[in-house]
Amino acid sequence: MRLVYTIDEVRSEVRVARELGKTIGLVPTMGALHEGHLTLIRRAREQCGFVIVSVFVNPTQFGPSEDLARYPRSLEEDARKCEQAGVDILFAPSVEEMYPEGFDTWVEVKGITEVLEGKSRPGHFRGVTTVCAKLFNISQPNYAYFGMKDYQQLKVIQKMVRDLNMPLEIVQVETVREPDGLAMSSRNSYLSAEERQAALVISRSLMEARKAFTDGERNAKRVQELISNLIKVEPCVHIDYVAVVDPESLRPIQTIDRSAVVLVAAWIGNTRLIDNIVLDSACK
Ligand code: PAJ
Repeated sequence: MRLVYTIDEVRSEVRVARELGKTIGLVPTMGALHEGHLTLIRRAREQCGFVIVSVFVNPTQFGPSEDLARYPRSLEEDARKCEQAGVDILFAPSVEEMYPEGFDTWVEVKGITEVLEGKSRPGHFRGVTTVCAKLFNISQPNYAYFGMKDYQQLKVIQKMVRDLNMPLEIVQVETVREPDGLAMSSRNSYLSAEERQAALVISRSLMEARKAFTDGERNAKRVQELISNLIKVEPCVHIDYVAVVDPESLRPIQTIDRSAVVLVAAWIGNTRLIDNIVLDSACK
């Protein structure tokens, strides 16, 4: 594996891989790699002859009062994990490399970015789409891998790729959870032992919602209330939103006719976590 810091290095490595007829896979991350990221990387490894992982804590997707400064950074450890997973290139650019002086071009998806995470974190998705568009242009992958853990992000990226005719396929990967159900996240490292325990209510409430759905519940409001009521039992967990929406438009629905996504964002102390679950005929 090569650890590279510049766009030029990525481009020249990709050129060689292409000449050798290799399929290129990209896994964009902000580092502090965990089993969720590694699952994306393994999927890329299975599908592609050449795998690029980017580690870049992208400042443009953090709001002014968010956790950019304290976001966990562990490049050495990340490099070790990538090496073990058989990654070809770990791309870890500096902020200056990605956003040189005078940078002033933005990629913005409207509509589905204006709800849920977009509403709670103004400007967040503009940063995400801009950096992903740049990473796609830099590495020109055939496939890029995204986790369903960040469901709205996945939908926003899919829409950007479709709307702008970007020549790659987005591969979605199921949410990877801790054995007790907590969705893996780099931000879990912020949690104290008690907060970590309290945070479990989020995934537990989603599992309860799934159970209600498989038992025949189709009323979205009742599903939403079921989750809110369960979460409210934990005094140190504060709901930002609980939403039952259409899986594509992310618009609220009243009745779950075919499928829905249930999304939760909540604060545990100073840590904001998100999780979601898809309700459809595959639910057991
Ligand atoms: P980051 O939070 O590091 O996540 C990188 C990728 O890993 C995303 O596609 C995310 O959905 C996926 N991922 C995280 N936790 C996961 C889990 N428990 N199960 C499955 N997949 C998981 O998301 C970002 O970084 C950034 O916004 C980025 C896309 C890199 C743009 O800066």
